[in-house]
Amino acid sequence: MSAPNPKETAGRRAAEMVEDGMTVGLGTGSTVHFTLLRLAERIRDEGLKLIGVPTSIDTETKARELGIPLATLDDVDAIDLTIDGADEVDPAFNLTKGGGGALLREKVVAHISKREAVVVGRAKLVERLGTTFLLPVEVVPFARPVVAREISCLGADPILRQGASGEPYLTDNGNEILDCKFPDGIADPAQLELALDRIPGVVESGLFVGLAHALVIGNDDGSCEVRELPN
Ligand code: 5RP
Repeated sequence: MSAPNPKETAGRRAAEMVEDGMTVGLGTGSTVHFTLLRLAERIRDEGLKLIGVPTSIDTETKARELGIPLATLDDVDAIDLTIDGADEVDPAFNLTKGGGGALLREKVVAHISKREAVVVGRAKLVERLGTTFLLPVEVVPFARPVVAREISCLGADPILRQGASGEPYLTDNGNEILDCKFPDGIADPAQLELALDRIPGVVESGLFVGLAHALVIGNDDGSCEVRELPN
């Protein structure tokens, strides 16, 4: 028997949080992949009714193939629950996201979600953001050199994300990504998020501050912890 996969444990467990009739934000990534599989099972086996709002073309494609009913932001005013992954989670439930390049749509969906549950393996929990993962910043291609210089002034080293054949990686929105290395990590995520947002040409950063309400943490032994944001 193969070892338990913490992503699968967390992804499947979070799908149990979905209640009949909910509008559900569908995040992006390899952990959410298991959430989609479990939601499709529940739709088939229990007759669960839900409407999904995907955060990427990849998730939209997978959800369609699995028969999960979908809507766009034109169709919904609010989302009951979003289930999404993260690259790092700090003790205050602040996140870095965007390893899969879907940070902009993920943040828009999180913004209109009543509740955001973050699915991760325990290895994603960190004391300080930016220490195990580069911070993705989505930029308009025209502005990229300007943005890169400004980000350097904030003390980071911005690296242009590349696609499979060496060309600049493009997001679902046609933008580029600068993956930013902060030598000592990110001391103040809220302040950095504001500083990045102030640079013309920055579309969005992968810093998610105050958006997560619950963590669903998969462990190596196959167990799972659900942690609620303390009041
Ligand atoms: C995509 C994301 C993902 O949620 C994040 O990269 C985690 O992915 P995975 O579950 O594959 O580890 O932010 O933009």
